[in-house]
Amino acid sequence: KAASEDSASRLLAWYDAHHRELPWRITPRAAAGGARPDPYRIWLSEVMLQQTTVEAVKSYFRAFVGKWPDVKALAAAPTEDVMKAWAGLGYYSRARNLKACADLVASQGGRFPDNEGGLRELPGIGAYTAAAIAAIAFDRPAAVVDGNVERVITRLYSIATPLSEAKPEIRALVERLVPRTRPGDLAQAMMDLGATICTPKRPRCMLCPVREDCSAILSGDPERFPVRLPR
Ligand code: ADE
Repeated sequence: KAASEDSASRLLAWYDAHHRELPWRITPRAAAGGARPDPYRIWLSEVMLQQTTVEAVKSYFRAFVGKWPDVKALAAAPTEDVMKAWAGLGYYSRARNLKACADLVASQGGRFPDNEGGLRELPGIGAYTAAAIAAIAFDRPAAVVDGNVERVITRLYSIATPLSEAKPEIRALVERLVPRTRPGDLAQAMMDLGATICTPKRPRCMLCPVREDCSAILSGDPERFPVRLPR
């Protein structure tokens, strides 16, 4: 059995016990009962999270799904109302693309495409967001790589290549890590690990579920990863 399978299992077990409860996630109990995440809610949260912190997004997310519970409701809303509800989140092109995307999806029957390629064609959905929605909402084994994931991976494998040049290597390692079952939970496990344990400064390695697999711990200085070129 590949070492990456062990790491993935440990990350998933840790996620089951320690994941953050966030308004767009379904509870493990609901998941065990067969509930699936709503693609609309996953899309909305991922667009909001593109340039905004989890803490700041929570209340906006709740307000949006309160006002517009599904993509057809959002498509039916006046653009002005959507822009008003977005006010304070910043990067307003995201809100304009959000509305354009809702209009397009609603005009095509109200269902989001269930794969990365189809999602990528929608307004405001780039490579990262397409992968995140495909994995979390549709169980696709997509490689979801954000800043948190880059940090976790460069530490786990002590990648000494400067981050700007290490992206293909990181992506390949994430692809190897992604399990056949629960790819979305694996992605979110790495995001949560990066946010709460494998932090940029003073990582809490003693609490880490993959410390035994982590090559940066052996180096004695996990903070050194990811390596950045002086600018
Ligand atoms: N950042 C971006 N997407 C996220 C998610 N699904 N969970 C936690 N943090 C995130």
